[in-house]
Amino acid sequence: MFFPKPDIIEDAYIKNYEEVYKYSINNPEDFWSNIAKELLWFKPWKKTFQWQYPYARWFIDGETNIIYNCLDRWLKTDKKNKLALVWIGQNLEVKKYTYQKLNEEICRFANALKSLGIKKGDRVTIYLPKIPEQIISMLACAKIGAIHSVVYSGFSVEALKTRIEDAQAKIVITTNSYPYKDKIINSLEKTIEAIKQSSTIRNVIIVKRVNEKNNNLNLTNVKFYYWDELTIKQDIICSTEIMNANDPLFILYTSGTTGKPKGVVHGHGGYMVGVYATSKFVFDLKENDILFSTADPGWITGHSYMTYGPLLNGITTLIYESVPDYPHPGRWWEIIEKFKPTIFYTTPTAIRALMKYGEEIPSKYDLSSLKILGSVGEPINPSAWIWFYKNIGREKNPPIMDTWWQTETGMHILTPLPSAPLKPGSCFKPFFGIMADVVDEKGKSVGKNKEGYLILKTPWPSILLDLWQNPQKYKETYFEKIKNKTKKFIYFTGDSAKIDDDGYFWIIGRNDDVIKVSGHRLGSAEIESALIANQKVAEAAVIGKPHEIKGESIKAFIILKHGFKPSEELKKELNLNVRMLIGPIASIDEIEFVEKLPKTRSGKIMRRVLKAQELGLPVGDISTLED
Ligand code: PRX
Repeated sequence: MFFPKPDIIEDAYIKNYEEVYKYSINNPEDFWSNIAKELLWFKPWKKTFQWQYPYARWFIDGETNIIYNCLDRWLKTDKKNKLALVWIGQNLEVKKYTYQKLNEEICRFANALKSLGIKKGDRVTIYLPKIPEQIISMLACAKIGAIHSVVYSGFSVEALKTRIEDAQAKIVITTNSYPYKDKIINSLEKTIEAIKQSSTIRNVIIVKRVNEKNNNLNLTNVKFYYWDELTIKQDIICSTEIMNANDPLFILYTSGTTGKPKGVVHGHGGYMVGVYATSKFVFDLKENDILFSTADPGWITGHSYMTYGPLLNGITTLIYESVPDYPHPGRWWEIIEKFKPTIFYTTPTAIRALMKYGEEIPSKYDLSSLKILGSVGEPINPSAWIWFYKNIGREKNPPIMDTWWQTETGMHILTPLPSAPLKPGSCFKPFFGIMADVVDEKGKSVGKNKEGYLILKTPWPSILLDLWQNPQKYKETYFEKIKNKTKKFIYFTGDSAKIDDDGYFWIIGRNDDVIKVSGHRLGSAEIESALIANQKVAEAAVIGKPHEIKGESIKAFIILKHGFKPSEELKKELNLNVRMLIGPIASIDEIEFVEKLPKTRSGKIMRRVLKAQELGLPVGDISTLED
């Protein structure tokens, strides 16, 4: 156990987790409505919570807008002159935005969107790298009630196209080209390719990240605009749309068990309250805090704890455009020394990758501004935890918040608080108001120190509202996996976990066919369909294998069609197919050509059998195996 230093407890909002937890579980609606009252509402809610299987709804009939709380409320105070966003480019160029300046940029862009006909409820796809305009566009959409769908800039043409089509987006915001390490990536070409056959996209807005000649912009039915030219003529005042608490704020696509990504929908009210509260208590946010999150808004952490959480709490968010070891492996530490963030939130993959370079590198920098560290996205192994604690935290020993949550939960669910005693590798216990358990498929608790399915037994405000255009899938994925005759709230997380004698949770990993590569969620089926798209492939099965740095790596088993022979060349070709159809994050580490794959009698590939065999583990129940 690692105990917090007395000054950390002294400073913390929550000094005794167990006491507050007990109160919150006995009075969850009071707990959450008291927090919601710290925020501004145009109209108060009539009912705090309602469960109508399979939907949990919060703050019924309440009216607000997340922007009303992220920006508008600060503009009436001295905070308007405080830094809201500090952006650091790859070459250490800096852009600073006070709350007032950020608001002006948001208003300008919101007015620009309106001038192009975007209104409440319309979907806007944001395909931008980590530049300020990525965040400005998200916030501008929210302000006018449009629904943003951020697509990670590393995704391929095909991935972008599917996301645009599924959301039926009217507009895409992209960049011409952008620097990525020593390369220049052309996003515009990819965007044009993705919207060529789109029936919904009418306009494209291009941010000029690098100075280059205007591209040849010629597409029937689509108009192209440059961000600067479009926004310069817009007013710096724009009214904030009044939104119902359960109106959608954004869609964020994430991988599941099928070949098609799912559009997770979050709303203005509940999401706002959950993210506000967890940012405040988990990172113990105070007036002068600066949060450096290394996430990208292409993923949920970049939404909740890089954009909305810090702004809802009126603090400064610090963003670095590039990767941890570019142009040198001390870059993050150099940024911490120079910009003095108090909270540093990153991933186990990044920590493991930086560990490889040795302790001397961070030791050269002054990291004394750090008060709290955070980890997210995948289980953190105790040795990485301790390295992080000792080499980044140093003698101040800032506690590490190992936060377990998901795109769907919107906010931290299992997480320590700064005053909690920590065990490296465990994500502590549930946040206030939430009950969690580890059960078997019948929903029965498995007891202490036994592995089972992680479920959540009580709802929290920022639970997803739905899956975009797919309520059936929503119900099946989260509420039908565990036997539940009485239709009470039992949310299936898709993770396996254990609870120890002290009630601490230990996450083992996914129990569905989701693979976590460097903390990014990829579906086996998604990768398989990219492989099968190759004419030479008859069948494909993909599994995740433990990997020292990335957490998991991808292995593919391939059956070739008659007449084709395995070769190293073909392996390269297949990998290229996957990179083109999904993106470089889905690169395959190993390919094995096989004659047969283990299948059920109904023809479903049993990936778990392949995985067990690959890892030398017991294969388990194979009674349904066809051969
Ligand atoms: O398996 C869990 C893992 O990430 C999954 C959610 O992935 P995603 O929706 O992409 O969100 C990632 C960022 C919140 C979970 O089902 N996961 C997330 N955080 C942790 C984790 N596994 C172990 N420890 C964590 N702290």
